Amino acid sequence: MAKPIYVLNGPNLNLLGAREPEVYGRETLDDLRARCERKAAALGFSLEFRQSNHEGELVAWIQEARTKAAGLIVNAGAFTHTSIAMLDALLACPVPSVEVHLSNIFTREPFRHHSYISKAVRGVICGFGAIGYELAIEALAATIAAGKSK
Ligand code: DQA
Repeated sequence: MAKPIYVLNGPNLNLLGAREPEVYGRETLDDLRARCERKAAALGFSLEFRQSNHEGELVAWIQEARTKAAGLIVNAGAFTHTSIAMLDALLACPVPSVEVHLSNIFTREPFRHHSYISKAVRGVICGFGAIGYELAIEALAATIAAGKSK
């Protein structure tokens, strides 16, 4: 059985749909999961789609992905801008990864312009809303097919 693509969502993303819809859109996290599952299935991958408000849990899932995942998509939410622990976990993760943000973090407050985790990922997609997750799955599938690691 082929390994799944892990999609890990950070804090407050459980509130999608209700949370600042003008910034993050009206789709719920379940809608997003369904969208990702469809896209992954079309490309021949299964999905492990998770959300946590806890940094340590996200770190543990990135560590799990080291051996269990074909690749990793991370929307770290606000931990993007604070978490050296998530950076270190991603640096230790040999599978390719993509950082995703629903909003364009570069057009927002200055404290959102810096991502600690970008250094550890293959690429970043931001500003396209839920479609960004589909683009990330597509990019990851192509990276995996090309036999590339990180
Ligand atoms: C976010 C952007 C972050 O700055 C913010 O803290 C989030 C969501 C996004 O998807 O646009 O929680 O990662």
